[in-house]
Amino acid sequence: MSIEQTMADQEIAMDAGKAAESSTEVVADERGFAGTVGDVTVADPRMICRDVNVFYGDKHAIKDVSLDVGKHEVLSMIGPSGCGKSTFLRCLNRMNDTIDGCRVTGQIALDGQDIYDKKLDVVPLRAQVGMVFQKPNPFPKSIYENIAYGPRIHGIAATRQELDEIVEQSLRKAGLWDEVKDRMEQPGTGLSGGQQQRLCIARAIAVSPEVILMDEPCSALDPIATARIEELIDELKANYTICIVTHSMQQAARVSQRTAYFHLGDLIEVGETTQIFTNPTHKLTEDYITGRFG
Ligand SMILES: Nc1ncnc2c1ncn2[C@@H]1O[C@H](COP(=O)(O)OP(=O)(O)OP(=O)(O)O)[C@@H](O)[C@H]1O
Ligand SMILES: [Mg+2]
Repeated sequence: MSIEQTMADQEIAMDAGKAAESSTEVVADERGFAGTVGDVTVADPRMICRDVNVFYGDKHAIKDVSLDVGKHEVLSMIGPSGCGKSTFLRCLNRMNDTIDGCRVTGQIALDGQDIYDKKLDVVPLRAQVGMVFQKPNPFPKSIYENIAYGPRIHGIAATRQELDEIVEQSLRKAGLWDEVKDRMEQPGTGLSGGQQQRLCIARAIAVSPEVILMDEPCSALDPIATARIEELIDELKANYTICIVTHSMQQAARVSQRTAYFHLGDLIEVGETTQIFTNPTHKLTEDYITGRFG
């Protein structure tokens, strides 16, 4: 057989492989899982994750997860409690490094750079990939210092005037400036819960991140503060990539363009948010979104 013929055959075989990958017909194993359904890749990725596994000692918490996160995209991660959403989110800025006995394998790249490279310094990484937690956690310092701290330690501002400018701009982007501009020296912990969460978002923004990770950022907030954060997420996506873990399917539907559904450490299905919520392919996704499970 000629080389050309062999290559043509290989191409056909690869195309067939791709077709099989994108096929919606799923053969389930005993866990109801036969590989992620949907396209895990995006045209313009900011982060690329391949075959990510996470272990806490013997516990296999994330199993062979591959997923891209696009630029200017809000990706929501949903699934029942304990399925590994927070664990996977923490992989994206190496927060799992801080947990004893936690081991991560696979590849995760930010703008083409392997973030698990042994030579990589995690301090600038955690500025590039910022994190907002479930419970607002302002530093026990003034509102001003909460925002100024990061730019100062990362050497982002050369002068006090530049620092003031960063503080103001970050608070403006987080939609908090008007509420706090006259009380910058008061403690951040004295703000309301919703204001504190916007302060934490402003703190993440202040160090010019590319990606903002949010782990159930509204679960401690009332509906009005939640709506304010959701509006903010929508505005922020023009400049940042956002990954949000949420237990609220309404929230995922409102804020995200893509949704990833996790179940017992597997990434079951990923797709356009509207498709996941109106026409899920996998039975496990359907059971979850229709409230039969979780
Ligand atoms: N520090 C840890 N040590 C040991 N096991 C852990 C640790 N953190 C999480 N796990 C386990 O890993 C699995 C995934 O947990 P994770 O917190 O990522 O789930 P989750 O989807 O975020 O859940 P929730 O919706 O309740 O926040 C669970 O079985 C959990 O018990
Ligand atoms: Mg969690």
